[in-house]
Amino acid sequence: ARVREYDFHVGYFYKSVDCVQGAIIGINGQFPGPTIRAEVGDTIDVAVTNKLYTEGTVIHWHGIRQYGTPWADGTASISQCPINPGETFHYRFKLEDAGTFFYHGHYGMQRAGGLFGSIIVDLPEGQKEPFHYDDEINLMLNDWWHKSASEQELGLISKLESFRWVYEPQTYRLRITSSTSFVSLNLAIAVDGHYVEPFTVDKLDIYSGDTYSVLLNTDQNPNQNYWVTVGHREYNVSTTQALTLLNYNIISASILPSVPPPVIPPYHDYVQRKAFVKKIVALEGTPQPPEYSQRRVLLLNTQDVINGYMRMVINNMSLSLPGTPYLGAIKFGITDAFDWRAPPESFPAEDYNIYAPPPRNLDAFIGNRVYKFEFNQVVDVILQNANGFAKNTSIIHPWHLHGHDFWVLGYGEGKFKDGDDEKLFNLKNPPLRNSVVVFPYGWTALRFRANNPGVWSFHCHMEPHFVTGMGVVFAEGVEYVKGIPAEALNCGQTRDYMLLNKKTH
Ligand code: C2O
Ligand code: CU
Repeated sequence: ARVREYDFHVGYFYKSVDCVQGAIIGINGQFPGPTIRAEVGDTIDVAVTNKLYTEGTVIHWHGIRQYGTPWADGTASISQCPINPGETFHYRFKLEDAGTFFYHGHYGMQRAGGLFGSIIVDLPEGQKEPFHYDDEINLMLNDWWHKSASEQELGLISKLESFRWVYEPQTYRLRITSSTSFVSLNLAIAVDGHYVEPFTVDKLDIYSGDTYSVLLNTDQNPNQNYWVTVGHREYNVSTTQALTLLNYNIISASILPSVPPPVIPPYHDYVQRKAFVKKIVALEGTPQPPEYSQRRVLLLNTQDVINGYMRMVINNMSLSLPGTPYLGAIKFGITDAFDWRAPPESFPAEDYNIYAPPPRNLDAFIGNRVYKFEFNQVVDVILQNANGFAKNTSIIHPWHLHGHDFWVLGYGEGKFKDGDDEKLFNLKNPPLRNSVVVFPYGWTALRFRANNPGVWSFHCHMEPHFVTGMGVVFAEGVEYVKGIPAEALNCGQTRDYMLLNKKTH
């Protein structure tokens, strides 16, 4: 194990990603940012310097648990203060698991602006993975927008009269960071950094925040080329599919296949979508979940207009992050840095109709309360989807948990039924993941142990949803957090506290 040091300069530059020039956010003049490649047990030390000049920034290491270093999670207002223009923040953390991960901006909509890159963690020298491959290719998928991230954000956080939804991206980019010859049948072998029981696929549903590893067998006729395609499945929109070719290095790489490219399943094909996620089960030997949970939080997601703003709402609360990072506020006991009252454990109205738009008199509010878990408690979270603001609309949401992996115990239709639906939980081989979807008008159940001292966000990974309130904050064992660097808390009330107490924590 070694320490790997990186210098990341986050800044704007002009780039024409799809023949339209625009200002994008990148790292060291690169887009996507540099790939971090390391081994399990290594320590990563990234000095991030903010060269954006007029706005703060942070970088989150998606899928890395940050055990013992919760201040390095890179979530603005949760684990740290945004890094000011001109300042440098050191993210120093240990890599515990092998797998495919990524990093991205976690402040405003800087991820949509281009701030992201890959993290690949290999097993230590001499250790073998449970399968064989000859070479590897790293693909990063992202959607690309012509409207700047800050303008998109403004549209989302404006009052209704100027509210603007982001609608659809202009182009899909499919990036192959290493190209060799390859093709055809895929075997899904790892999801979110954990091995799964292999199964054969010819396509993958990949939601924002997911990571997959697949094996491709190049056993097809090498004298022709094959299509690879990526398409948008979020709404019934017209963004064209991205296309590229697989080529065996035998014939010219520009000869088109004789058949038309495969068509992406329609966005409303939930039968296909559900069948796909349900195929994902843990590889034998993966740790199993505790048999019982000690706490259950049911999170009902709705959508509502609050004080003239269109907001995403969880159990009546729409998350708005405070100016002082929770990690420091909780650690120092600064009681007026945010609303310390407990948020609702479930949706207050038992007879809530998930099939109808939210009733007019809903007590929805914009707030910043935190779910506090006892250290080591086994927690179940039931994500309950419902109708959104408009009639007959309920959309899929990909949720991501920081600081933990969780077991996905199951997916179900309609309203979660206490007792009955628990009997459907898969406790035998549920996959360990850090992101999971909840289907329209359905529920998703997950279980984790609150064993990572810190404050962690759990939120919809669609950036426009998160910035309009679709998230919650979990805290556990903050009393055990030791050694928060002062530079992480140099804003809001934690700065005042440190000035008064003149010591580091
Ligand atoms: Cu990749 Cu909080 O997200
Ligand atoms: Cu969402």
